[in-house]
Amino acid sequence: MALPHGIVHVEQLAVEGKRVFVRVDLNVPLTKDRRVGDDSRITAVLPTIRHLIDRGARIVLGSHLGRPDGQVKPELSLEPVAARLAELLATEVVLADEPAGDGARKVVGDLREGQLALLENLRFHPGEEGNDDAFARQLASYCDVYVNDAFGTAHRAHASTAGMVRHVGVKGAGYVMAKEIDVLSRLLGDIDRPYLAVVGGAKVSDKIEVLDALLERVDAIAVGGAMANTFLTAQGKQLGKSKVEGDKLAVARNFLRKASEKNVTVHLPHDVVIAAGIDAEETRAVAIDAVPADQMALDIGPATIETYRGAVTRARTVFWNGPMGVFEKPRFAGGTFAVARAMADNRLALTVVGGGDSAAAVVQAGVADRVTHVSTGGGASLEFIQGLELPGIAALAAP
Ligand code: 3PG
Repeated sequence: MALPHGIVHVEQLAVEGKRVFVRVDLNVPLTKDRRVGDDSRITAVLPTIRHLIDRGARIVLGSHLGRPDGQVKPELSLEPVAARLAELLATEVVLADEPAGDGARKVVGDLREGQLALLENLRFHPGEEGNDDAFARQLASYCDVYVNDAFGTAHRAHASTAGMVRHVGVKGAGYVMAKEIDVLSRLLGDIDRPYLAVVGGAKVSDKIEVLDALLERVDAIAVGGAMANTFLTAQGKQLGKSKVEGDKLAVARNFLRKASEKNVTVHLPHDVVIAAGIDAEETRAVAIDAVPADQMALDIGPATIETYRGAVTRARTVFWNGPMGVFEKPRFAGGTFAVARAMADNRLALTVVGGGDSAAAVVQAGVADRVTHVSTGGGASLEFIQGLELPGIAALAAP
């Protein structure tokens, strides 16, 4: 496994008997009754935790959950996450009732070899997102060794991902972080072609930077989701009541012009599944120039699915981020699941799913173990494949 210069794998660290702080990304969805809705991010970090337990480390886990903005919000307590983690590991997980302070220090001080504690939501403290040095030093004082396994938060320069790292003598990357860096780096190097990016989601404005960066590397881009409506409207199509970013039509036009100058094929839907609204029962597929004024496009249509499936099948490298339609509703999930299955069926390609909704979709489609890599990071994977420096990774590599 190739890690950037200066980054040490957790397996190479001497951790026996040491207090090891592990930054994990346990920012998981919770159900209404406050249970873990999807435990993928918890299961992902088990190898690092198990390795440290086996080596007799005293493990201090730190994570954020949601965006409490530096305030204690009981509904964003890590309690349900600690419970699920304890279940998965079949061991006790002590939850400190604060991210830092006397209580946290006591929990950490009481840890015996092979035991683990989870600090309360780091973002309950304003110093976390503010990357405050006093808070960073406090966290650093809880450990002898720092391990970052939170790839999903590596694009944030926070106290636990960046600030504290320079205050700890020994540092390294956990299994999740190392694998993410290893696979995603391949997308920035010499890849097998054709390289196809499938990009979906609601807004052009959220993805324009990544789309621009992809133009420099890919052979083709297939666009889906509501953002496709903006591109199609920019080309003069009438899409009825469909969601369109009216103030981004010039951006969309400009992107299509650049793509054609660079000989990058941009696939846009040529048919769509329409309905009167997302809760409407009645749906049908129509050609892209036949969307009635009172209907909206909510998924790519069957002919477009065939085109996108073909593009995925021919590709030798595929990166996918963003759903093709409103896939939370089964009647608008066909396009998203078809992309997931096409990626899984292409055994010859490097197939990488950027986190977030697309990661959830491959899990729901039951094909997560048949693609090369499902990233645990949404925003982080998008920044990585743009070739941007991620503060959490830079901190691990710093001398
Ligand atoms: C994520 O879910 O993308 C990460 O946990 C980062 O969360 P954030 O966008 O709130 O920083």
